[in-house]
Amino acid sequence: MAESCTYVIFGATGNLASIKLLPALYHLDRAERLPASVRILCCGRSEYGQDQWQTTVRTWVGAKARGGLDPAVFERFAARIDYCRGDLRDPALYAGLKSQLADSPTHNAAFYMSVGPAEFGTIAEQLSVHGMLDEAAGWRRVVVEKPFGHDLVSAQDLQRKIGKFVDESQIYRIDHYLGKATVQNVLVFRFANLMMEPLWNRNHIDHVQITHAETLGVGSRGGFYDSAGALRDMIQSHLLQLLTLVAMEPPAAMEAESLRDEKVKVLKSVRPIPKGAVHSQAFRAQYAAGEIGGQRVAAYREEGKVSAQSTTETYAALKLYIDNWRWRGVPFYLRTGKRMAEARSMVSICFKHPPLQFFRGTDVERLHSNWVILGIQPEESLRVEITAKEPGLEMRTRQLSLDAHFRDEQHEKTDAYEDLLLDVVRGDRSLFLRYDEVDYAWRVVDPVLSVWASETDFVPTYAAGSWGPRESRRIFDREEHRWRHTLDPQPLED
Ligand code: BG6
Repeated sequence: MAESCTYVIFGATGNLASIKLLPALYHLDRAERLPASVRILCCGRSEYGQDQWQTTVRTWVGAKARGGLDPAVFERFAARIDYCRGDLRDPALYAGLKSQLADSPTHNAAFYMSVGPAEFGTIAEQLSVHGMLDEAAGWRRVVVEKPFGHDLVSAQDLQRKIGKFVDESQIYRIDHYLGKATVQNVLVFRFANLMMEPLWNRNHIDHVQITHAETLGVGSRGGFYDSAGALRDMIQSHLLQLLTLVAMEPPAAMEAESLRDEKVKVLKSVRPIPKGAVHSQAFRAQYAAGEIGGQRVAAYREEGKVSAQSTTETYAALKLYIDNWRWRGVPFYLRTGKRMAEARSMVSICFKHPPLQFFRGTDVERLHSNWVILGIQPEESLRVEITAKEPGLEMRTRQLSLDAHFRDEQHEKTDAYEDLLLDVVRGDRSLFLRYDEVDYAWRVVDPVLSVWASETDFVPTYAAGSWGPRESRRIFDREEHRWRHTLDPQPLED
């Protein structure tokens, strides 16, 4: 059971709170992970009476409750919730909050900034001015949502603003990808098993692919997305985090600082992309109209709040090299896209060929590479592909796979936010980003962002429902490299 505390949510009437935060807290309550004294203070600009707010929360939670809403649990959950109306820039909001917190049975409080980064500094300052970050009588923590800045300079600026008021030990920067069970499994798979680790390096691995594909478009987030794009939205944060877990050295201990030290070392070792190499290491594109699941879907430029001339990328692919002893020379291909053929995230490790063609003179014409595939979603799985002899008198081979699924049917699937919200209360920062991680991640993508920002005449397109443009293959190091789209080996793009 977690410690008692008050969760204060800024931006509680927004999209994230409605689809993720409040449902996650409800599920934690249902799993008996919240002590009876935990309270949830929801702050927003709109006017809500207490009953009206609880009805709204009931609708949101009901839409996400696994197995349907449990009325008894919801009643208990609703009794924890209060609504607090106010403007984030108005000191009166914070004075009100302060007196509400003073009435709480515990001093411990987590302030969740589920608002745009432009508000982070103001909230931190107001909390500090009103003495709400003082930890003398219990902990006070601040949870910051992504995006942390728009580029390196703005991230540094934001850090300065927050850092003036909040100590780094109080800051929990969320990357919800790290709350996904299979993402955490990358660490367990690598460091709780001896089998793969000796092979996990440049001597044996040919290249690595990290893919996050979605079938959804930008939906109602066109306004935000059009000024962000896929490289900022997914690669700078989630995919670079995944890369650090795949590539890092074993940490000195499985605790926050040691883990984060190793992740930062990976990001620091990423070879900077010179401006002149952006076109050979990065590729962007935007979805045109197409078909998904038998339905016609609009082009990105026709989406709400998106400029009709927009050159913002909805697809981005990036080739990175990690210049250290373990990985020098091994390309890491990172790719993400909206409105793709399938919704799927996975890490695909392609091994080198054996050094000798032992089976020359037999029917074994061509050796296949071994692949290890970690399915992040929708399957939470591990696949190891090997070559085996076909039954029969001839020396012929076929490809087999050893497949393991991390979750049996009886294991309930929890949402990443449940893990992370609980970790905030536990004070475990292992799955949250330290500022230097964010800083180095911006350094990786900044040169690409600045070249793309200067080229606004044209962006290649791909049909919605496809796997993105073939031209993205220009970032590959070798002719035989192909995108690995799915768990099955056959549909490797030709
Ligand atoms: C978010 C991005 O951080 O992650 C979204 O802003 C993206 O654009 C989402 O759709 C993907 O996360 P998940 O958990 O839905 O795969």
